[in-house]
Amino acid sequence: MGVIIEGKGLTKSFGGLTAVKKVDFHLNKGEIVGLIGPNGAGKTTLFNLMSGVYHPEEGTLSFNGMEITSLKSFEICRLGIARTFQIVRPFLKMSCLENVLIGIIGRGDPREGIKAKGEEARKLLKFVSLEGHEKNSANNLTLIEKKRLEMARALATQPRLLLLDEVLAGLNPSEILQALELIEVIRTQLKMTIFWIEHVMGAIMKASDRIIVLDQGEKIKEGRPEEVVNDSKVIEAYLGESDA
Ligand SMILES: Nc1ncnc2c1ncn2[C@@H]1O[C@H](COP(=O)(O)OP(=O)(O)OP(=O)(O)O)[C@@H](O)[C@H]1O
Ligand SMILES: [Mg+2]
Repeated sequence: MGVIIEGKGLTKSFGGLTAVKKVDFHLNKGEIVGLIGPNGAGKTTLFNLMSGVYHPEEGTLSFNGMEITSLKSFEICRLGIARTFQIVRPFLKMSCLENVLIGIIGRGDPREGIKAKGEEARKLLKFVSLEGHEKNSANNLTLIEKKRLEMARALATQPRLLLLDEVLAGLNPSEILQALELIEVIRTQLKMTIFWIEHVMGAIMKASDRIIVLDQGEKIKEGRPEEVVNDSKVIEAYLGESDA
């Protein structure tokens, strides 16, 4: 299968707090890997390191064998890593179509005319079930629709690796099922590798090949979903949280 991304000894602090501590991890091409852990465990920070929002104080990141540790966000995006944000942030005053077009235009592919780009943006909106919202301002979408728009914006950059930060939060059970189907389709049809953060345990355990668990910045467990749910350190990390 081959490794698509690898982090070694990644460390990132904010003042006195070490949000990510000496984390080693890798993802194989075509895998769906879940990233879990209690609130404040460092999950989003790890995504921020992988997408160039922050740079680690220690450690290295390589993508398809190329070191990306110090690259800027747009450079990482061009290489093929895209992400959604836990706090959705589409361009609210723009239409849904324009929001997706930004990702497509950002690829800077001169062979494609604006008409083809528009068509592609429409297709992506349809793909995430936002057909009919093309001219709608992003501001008018519900939270769930905004999350779908975030996915379409990330997909528009045609990544090889997609990072999804809590895209299921706030969805009802039938919407979760739809979202899980979408994630599987992204893997099989678009041939992307998916790394996703989720607190909806049933869903992430069901849809992931492998799970990585962070607690207080450290990787405490990694394995198949059934290995992870029964792990005493993982259970303790979550129980500790509810006691707090
Ligand atoms: N920009 C920042 N400045 C200061 N502290 C930060 C910053 N970003 C994250 N932190 C802190 O780093 C720790 C890890 O945060 P992070 O957002 O990565 O956690 P998380 O696992 O994504 O949590 P959640 O499940 O609540 O989203 C937390 O203590 C958080 O307060
Ligand atoms: Mg987070």
